[in-house]
Amino acid sequence: MSQYSAILGTGASLPRRAVSNQELTAFLAAKGVETSAEWIETRTGIQQRYICEPDETNSDMASKAALQALKAAGVLPDQVDLIVLATSTPDQVFPSTACAVQAQIGATHAMAFDIQAVCSGFVYALTVADSMIRAGQARNALVIGSEVFSRLMDWQDRTTCVLFGDGAGAVYLQGSDEPGILGCKLHSDGTLGCILNTTGRIEGGKIVGDPFLRMDGQAVFRQAVSVLGNSALELFEALNFKLEDLDFLVPHQANVRILHSVAKKLKLPEERVIMTVAQHGNTSAASVPLALNHAVAQKQIKKGDNVLLQGVGGGFTWGSVLVRM
Ligand SMILES: CC(C)(COP(=O)(O)OP(=O)(O)OC[C@H]1O[C@@H](n2cnc3c(N)ncnc32)[C@H](O)[C@@H]1OP(=O)(O)O)[C@@H](O)C(=O)NCCC(=O)NCCS
Repeated sequence: MSQYSAILGTGASLPRRAVSNQELTAFLAAKGVETSAEWIETRTGIQQRYICEPDETNSDMASKAALQALKAAGVLPDQVDLIVLATSTPDQVFPSTACAVQAQIGATHAMAFDIQAVCSGFVYALTVADSMIRAGQARNALVIGSEVFSRLMDWQDRTTCVLFGDGAGAVYLQGSDEPGILGCKLHSDGTLGCILNTTGRIEGGKIVGDPFLRMDGQAVFRQAVSVLGNSALELFEALNFKLEDLDFLVPHQANVRILHSVAKKLKLPEERVIMTVAQHGNTSAASVPLALNHAVAQKQIKKGDNVLLQGVGGGFTWGSVLVRM
């Protein structure tokens, strides 16, 4: 059994089509929905998002991200023990998207399952995979966040449809005697389910309830700033870790104003906060691994750096994972 699990490779995949604020605004104007590129950028920091075409699927993106993470680690798919995939927009009700990825990449020896914790999904999945590796249930894992949130959008609702995008990110995690993941802490508050949800379900051959994403934006904003700041401080205290030893924060990418507020609350210089929301929009469970992969690819995050990964979203759910790269 390993004392730690360590991230040895990262990967990402985005849909073919990037949609700028200008393009989205023109598309919405044709539907009689009033917004502007300037409003979107000023209030959220988002400049563009990627949107899947009808022939692009969650599992296709997830498989590409997973193969890239394996390649970065120099590992073959049939060496993988475990696939944990975080999503709220699976290919289908069942089997899981993780099983579809297993089949697509040829991870013939892996066990595979999905986790659903909305925008906190990746930190939940990473915590589960880390725990399973340290408990001896697996020697290594692919941990993936992959979403097609564009398919939950009500294109008549300007308060939500400008915010979200599609994509996938992945990490390859392996048991290690050197640190690795230093600690994880997850939280949920189901009484706040009403501030961010998609309540529709399949029943009797029909969709019953609302098939679109609904959100009380201001309530989510306040909650996100509060829990992200507290969650970081709580984990640092539990691990006796000093804020000044943190090299980078990789938070869930929902709104640049949330990221600025969290940085301020933690007294963290903004150059140490990875921000990709301008390019990707909010990709829910994919946002943290997409941002991490971006920073690794840019050689901003390097081996040995202490990095705090943070998720927050529907449930309400939130959590932090501190990792030495
Ligand atoms: C959604 C969000 C961007 C809205 O920004 P905001 O500054 O709080 O804006 P408000 O909700 O106060 O709305 C201000 C005005 O802008 C309008 N508005 C909302 N969306 C708009 C859009 N796309 N274009 C133009 N105007 C818009 C509102 O209707 C409102 O108009 P009114 O004052 O006439 O009623 C912001 O609340 C947010 O980012 N929340 C968190 C979202 C999030 O992170 N979700 C995912 C978490 S995992």
